[in-house]
Amino acid sequence: MNGSGSFKERRLQPLFFLGNNPISLTGAGLTSASALTLIGFWVIDLIGHGGSPNPYVGIIVDLCLPALFILGLLLIPIGVWFRRRQLRAAGQLPPTYPKIELSNPVFRRAIDFVLVATFINFVIVGTASYRGVAYMDTPSFCGQSCHVMAPEWAAYPAYHHSNVACTECHVASGFGGYVHAKMNGTRQLFMVMLNTYPKPIFPEDRLPPADKTCVKCHNPQTYIGDKLLFKTSYGDDEKNSATHSIVLMHVGGRNGLGTVSGIHGAHLGRVEYIATDSTHQTIPWVAAVKSDGSRTEYVSSDAKSPVTGTKRLMDCTDCHNRAAHSLDTPENALNKAIAQGAPNSSLPFVHKEGLALIKASYHSQEDAAAKITAGLEDFYRSHYPDVLSQRHADVEQAAKALVSIYSANVSPSMKVAWGTHPNDLGHNDYPGCFRCHDGSHNTKGGASITNDCTICHNLIAVDEANPKQLSDLGLQ
Ligand code: HEC
Ligand code: HEC
Ligand code: HEC
Ligand code: HEC
Ligand code: HEC
Repeated sequence: MNGSGSFKERRLQPLFFLGNNPISLTGAGLTSASALTLIGFWVIDLIGHGGSPNPYVGIIVDLCLPALFILGLLLIPIGVWFRRRQLRAAGQLPPTYPKIELSNPVFRRAIDFVLVATFINFVIVGTASYRGVAYMDTPSFCGQSCHVMAPEWAAYPAYHHSNVACTECHVASGFGGYVHAKMNGTRQLFMVMLNTYPKPIFPEDRLPPADKTCVKCHNPQTYIGDKLLFKTSYGDDEKNSATHSIVLMHVGGRNGLGTVSGIHGAHLGRVEYIATDSTHQTIPWVAAVKSDGSRTEYVSSDAKSPVTGTKRLMDCTDCHNRAAHSLDTPENALNKAIAQGAPNSSLPFVHKEGLALIKASYHSQEDAAAKITAGLEDFYRSHYPDVLSQRHADVEQAAKALVSIYSANVSPSMKVAWGTHPNDLGHNDYPGCFRCHDGSHNTKGGASITNDCTICHNLIAVDEANPKQLSDLGLQ
């Protein structure tokens, strides 16, 4: 008797005999079906068509399918163990196990069973995984399934990018971005399951570089030239008096002669910096790189020299960091809402009261909704009972608008409060441009990054009640 013969007789023959039971056969079918599905996903990934860049798809491909595969494998010995116990108890364990032969109808039936189980499992596992992957690619999955993303989801619908999927900005195009996102996504999922994720969430890594995200849709060289911005603000007086600012921003770009100019022209591909905090609010070192490769270094007078850290090439998200899910300041959010009609600016003191109500602190969004609504009604009941009785619908609509401002911007459960996420486009509410253009980032020779108001914009009107230019433009 040779070795392989003994192996066959001692191991394989009992395995095939005892494994011929529903539990083990189903396990075999499950294992082969999940293996087939996994191979299918790998092939799709490899060819690069239809492979999903979504980080959380890793749950299915990297966790669920392998788990099913192992579950199937475990079912095989479990079934063997049960059958053996049963046969032994009944005294039916055969002294020698039957030979493995296809001609034996018992084996043939077992093989048929495994084939049918594989097919059925494959249809179920395959369809479920495919649908899961498709679902995870939708913004509603990223934003909603996971309460961790609630603040971003709440702020997402109001802005220009509400039709742009989360993954378009958060996952770099190409294979590298795909793998990176998947590893990150699986790690983050564990953090969510073990409740070890940070609150609030700050991007630990900045977004992938803009040339792999924003630049897929926006040409960075586009000549935008000057852009006129209007802002209307409301006062704390009874009439909520409006004032207006008109600012002409020198956005620039590459013009018809091929020269780059303005705000866009000055930075893209040309400015490097080192930040010392994760939200990049403190920037002690900046370098301007000229086209001939020469560089001018600026160091903040606050910096404890020498500055060390990772150098980063400035891109779109260093200014447009709230391009989607922009979280506003309470003042801006309320001004915008009143300018759009709700709250109605003819309700006395609606600006002052509304601002105080949305700025107060609440335990949860539900708590805020109840207290903001009650608070506004109380105010009118005690100070303007006529307004409350005659214009109840307006008061109700104002309360609704205040509640939606609050819930789009504040998320107590995620510890996202007003101002948690700074907006870098500007300098009035957050440091923004003045992280570098504050007049105290200097070269060794004493030159500084400009702080001249007119280099960035012309201030045509600042908080004026009736700027002449508005009527010139036919806007008032
Ligand atoms: C137009 C591009 C864009 C889209 C679309 C987008 N984001 Fe973002 N997201 C950003 C930028 C830019 C940042 C800030 C990155 C930084 O500061 O480095 C960010 C940051 C975040 C952060 C970190 C916390 C924070 O608010 O700064 C989370 C969480 C987040 N996004 C989730 C989402 C979710 C969920 C969606 C889809 C509902 C989404 N994002 C869609 C561009 C985008
Ligand atoms: C999938 C395509 C797509 C991607 C990716 C994308 N955008 Fe946009 N973006 C658009 C479209 C389309 C508009 C115009 C929407 C409109 O006018 O309603 C827009 C508008 C804008 C605007 C002008 C409106 C505003 O909010 O002031 C800015 C700025 C902007 N995008 C910046 C960015 C930045 C920064 C990124 C990368 C973080 C980015 N976009 C990624 C498609 C995209
Ligand atoms: C140095 C800061 C800065 C950088 C870097 C920057 N932008 Fe801007 N961008 C601005 C400012 C300031 C404005 C005008 C203010 C506004 O639109 O609110 C603007 C305006 C825009 C607009 C709106 C134009 C319009 O007609 O409404 C788009 C789109 C835009 N930027 C896209 C981008 C993209 C894409 C990148 C990266 C390739 C980029 N920006 C890099 C500061 C910057
Ligand atoms: C990370 C630092 C940094 C930030 C943030 C930054 N800039 Fe700059 N900016 C620079 C540097 C460096 C230069 C070039 C100085 C030079 O050429 O020596 C520059 C140049 C400029 C210029 C051209 C100045 C000139 O003399 O022609 C404009 C305009 C400008 N920036 C606007 C902005 C605006 C608007 C923002 C905010 C939305 C902003 N910058 C944010 C670093 C920064
Ligand atoms: C480095 C460029 C830069 C410099 C220098 C600069 N600003 Fe601005 N400023 C901006 C940007 C960017 C915005 C906002 C654009 C936006 O909101 O989209 C802005 C907005 C404003 C506004 C509009 C009101 C508001 O609430 O946003 C006022 C007023 C203003 N700046 C005043 C000044 C004054 C005064 C100076 C000179 C001391 C100055 N700025 C210097 C870039 C600059």
